[in-house]
Amino acid sequence: MLGRLNHVAVVVPDLAAAVATYRNTLGARVTEPQALPEHGVTVVFIDVGNTKIELLEPLGEASPIAAFLDKNPSGGIHHVCYEVDDILAARDQLKAGGARVLGDGNPKTGAHGKPVLFLHPKDFFGTLIELEQA
Ligand code: CO
Repeated sequence: MLGRLNHVAVVVPDLAAAVATYRNTLGARVTEPQALPEHGVTVVFIDVGNTKIELLEPLGEASPIAAFLDKNPSGGIHHVCYEVDDILAARDQLKAGGARVLGDGNPKTGAHGKPVLFLHPKDFFGTLIELEQA
């Protein structure tokens, strides 16, 4: 089921400051910030060749990453995203195996304009997993 690692997501308290650090200290090429109101985040991507790093900052009052920042005020790794060929087939197989899909169980459109789903971290050893249809 699992394809390649699409990205690792890091929540940051200040996106502009984080972008400056990645650009100036790490010499990374960083995309322009993209607001995703449906997901309650603003996001940039850093292409590191074999995968990407996604930096996330809360957007709006009900951001799903606000609680994460409360617990991790300086930021931290939030989720890993794996590619799948068929997200609905992957979802159905996972649910049949007892894994919990977050939200209403239907894919949302992610930052790349492709369908994504999130899996409950308690079912995967404390790691929040995003699936993206490649
Ligand atoms: Co992601």
